[in-house]
Amino acid sequence: MQTLTSPRTPGDRCLLGKALKVLVVAGARPNFMKVASLLAAFEARKAQGEDVEAFLVHTGQHYDARMSDNFFRDLGLPEPDIYLGAGSGSHAEQTARVMVAFEKACIECSPDLVVVVGDVNSTMACAISAKKLGIRVAHVEAGLRSRDMAMPEEINRLCTDVISDYLFTTEPSANRNLVAEGIQPERIFFSGNTMIDTLRKHLGRALDLPLPKGYETGGYAVLTLHRPSNVDAAEPLSRVFSALNAIAERIPIVFPAHPRTAGKLSAIQVHPNIHVIEPLGYLAFVSLMARCRMVLTDSGGIQEETTVLGVPCLTMRLTTERPITCEVGTNLLVGTDPEDIRRTALSILDSPPVRRAIPEKWDGHAGERIADALIAQFQARERVE
Ligand code: UD1
Repeated sequence: MQTLTSPRTPGDRCLLGKALKVLVVAGARPNFMKVASLLAAFEARKAQGEDVEAFLVHTGQHYDARMSDNFFRDLGLPEPDIYLGAGSGSHAEQTARVMVAFEKACIECSPDLVVVVGDVNSTMACAISAKKLGIRVAHVEAGLRSRDMAMPEEINRLCTDVISDYLFTTEPSANRNLVAEGIQPERIFFSGNTMIDTLRKHLGRALDLPLPKGYETGGYAVLTLHRPSNVDAAEPLSRVFSALNAIAERIPIVFPAHPRTAGKLSAIQVHPNIHVIEPLGYLAFVSLMARCRMVLTDSGGIQEETTVLGVPCLTMRLTTERPITCEVGTNLLVGTDPEDIRRTALSILDSPPVRRAIPEKWDGHAGERIADALIAQFQARERVE
């Protein structure tokens, strides 16, 4: 395993003999924060004279303003260079549409490298299309494992990692998982967390936003819920809400509802102190999350963001692929039993907030480390070929 240290300074720049052409793929909401710092790092290296061109591909897995456009605006992301327009559908339909469209894009652009991030359907689909065309693939946020094969994301992670040439990891458990699965250590790079790069960069702007009327710092909780296992069927959704309704007796809960979940809420009882709102843009969401008393979630990335913000997080799942957030961070894996959720949430409300540690390399420089490592890998290959 290669531990990436500080990003290089402009003085160490290594000029490539020919331009390194990189396609960076984003498909769904949690991808946009992860590619932002990487694109900025490639852009910075180019400005310093490196012969590298990075292009943004948006697969269109998430397509409406609330799930996609608002993030581009908040993060200052460039317009996508290539838009695939894949849209929603069953897993097979969505994955297949992305694969077909991305294969065409790769044939037209002939990139040297494709970078995929995270664990959504677009991640796996683009990795497979590129690899079958003989294009090298880098996976950012590799090696995370929930060991729960009922999660589509776990299947996406496994398939992507096994075919990727360069695997960039966010935490030690990911390094161990990849080695245990037989990935050669020289393909694994412990780089840190690009989602946290983005959080650190934009936190100040988020905190400049006023809280919505009626909310004050520490006086409300934030809820997100969209895992298929929690929301697709009425029974698990009602069970989770029986706990949330009890918690809402003690503290107001703001719930920016994912479209997958919003469509199911009419069938269950929702306490009036749970304020269901539209999905928020990045800055508005970070602003709410950073100042709340606690987060209740089944998301992956929010476990990491709350760890850095020092906000207590209750993860309503049976497993986490991000164990570092429980080991050193503020995350508590509470499961899905309503009584456990209720009891743990109330005990958080009754205790003073605890300050915990921030994981190694979650320092705002992961994107730079990744860009530098990829440029160095290609420079080394050029010398050999
Ligand atoms: C996807 C990812 C999940 C990620 C989540 C974040 C996979 C397998 N899942 O789940 O890992 O945590 O995004 O949001 O890739 N929809 C809209 N507008 C949109 C996008 C989706 O209304 O812009 C609706 C559609 O009705 C769609 C449903 O949401 O059927 C689910 O979208 P989909 O992309 O299939 O999965 P997510 O649940 O968003």
